[in-house]
Amino acid sequence: MIKEFIKINSLKGKLLLPGDKSISHRAVMFAAMANGKSNISNCSNSEDVNSTMNCFKQLGAEISFNDKTIEIIGLGFKNLVKSNSNLDAGNSGTTARLISGILSAQNFSSNINGDESLSARPMMRIVKPLQSMGAKIKASESGTLPITINPSDYLHAIDYEMEISSAQVKSAIILAAIHLSETTSIIERNPTRNHTENMLGVKTEKLLDGKKIFASKENYPNPFEMTIPSDISSASFFIVLTLLSKNSELIIQSVSLNETRTGILEILKRMGANIEIDNIILENGEMRGDIIVKSSKLKNVDVPSSIIPNIIDEIPILSVAGVFAEGNFRISKAKELRVKESDRIKSICNNFKLAGLNIVEFEDGFEISGIPTNAKVAYESYGDHRIAMAFAVMAMLSEFGGSVNQFEAVNVSNPDFLNQIKAIV
Ligand code: S3P
Repeated sequence: MIKEFIKINSLKGKLLLPGDKSISHRAVMFAAMANGKSNISNCSNSEDVNSTMNCFKQLGAEISFNDKTIEIIGLGFKNLVKSNSNLDAGNSGTTARLISGILSAQNFSSNINGDESLSARPMMRIVKPLQSMGAKIKASESGTLPITINPSDYLHAIDYEMEISSAQVKSAIILAAIHLSETTSIIERNPTRNHTENMLGVKTEKLLDGKKIFASKENYPNPFEMTIPSDISSASFFIVLTLLSKNSELIIQSVSLNETRTGILEILKRMGANIEIDNIILENGEMRGDIIVKSSKLKNVDVPSSIIPNIIDEIPILSVAGVFAEGNFRISKAKELRVKESDRIKSICNNFKLAGLNIVEFEDGFEISGIPTNAKVAYESYGDHRIAMAFAVMAMLSEFGGSVNQFEAVNVSNPDFLNQIKAIV
């Protein structure tokens, strides 16, 4: 579907966005693993989290919807049941990678596959550490899906140092480790999102450069009740749209303010953004609060490599902010962007070229200079939800608007994006 956007003159209002996608995946998984009934409110209504729910239904969990709450009856320690068919992770890397950790510790075999985009993404990053724990897990010859997992008699704890900054890899190891009596330790030099640690009460120790995580059977989840804070990654599209529209003000309520996710606010503030936080509360180890955004004049700043894992999902929309800010926008040390739902370095560069900007592409980033064309541009989403929303914002900030091809990709994280826009313009 090609979606047309016109320039937005100004916007005002309040938004309550659906639950954080990363936390929702984990809430569904942990509830399905716990022994008994859990209730989850404000769960993400995304296709990605739906993939996780479908996989766990196939593995025996009972999942039902009760108004805005999801009730999950979980099966308990090593009690998931074998699925008669392949588990389909759809477009979701989090589903495929985290479920691999859980299934490595079960007493039955499983097969995991996914859509075309996910089937091209690297899986050896989880297969190797899980194999070193004794898991009988195999990916295809090209190191991608499908993944096959057979029961292992000798799953054991490991001491592991993260080779790449990835919360999905860290979580896959933790989720296998919580099935074992001995303690697994993981050293993480560059912090990545820590929802798995927070939600499972995993102990961590601060190191001079990074942290050490300790996980064992003690961290196996019990049934719980939880209201999921709204998704800061979804909020970031509305934040940038507000900042760069004239006479605009937006309140985005009850957004996750977990410190491993708020890098986008930090960078935008350094760029001169008028962003304030109100009504902060702490619940289930996760901070949340209202984000108040007002029109601002932005100036590009240096984006340090240490913050890249924290803003990895926000780089597409941050680059749109960079185009309308004073000076050139530059990102480097972000090679991981090449293996997301699309090659995001290529997707971003190609779209900005269509907008008449000067682009220098590097292996691990890009630099943008110039002034966007006045013409109406037809952008491509490359089937990638964050590219679709970033360039919808780009179109809504451009004099003659623009369009985004394959816009339905937004359903992967935020099916209500267009209604949310309608509510504030
Ligand atoms: C996620 C971790 C990040 C992020 C993804 C969600 C998670 O991926 O990009 O959208 O929920 O753990 P990596 O672990 O590959 O960095």
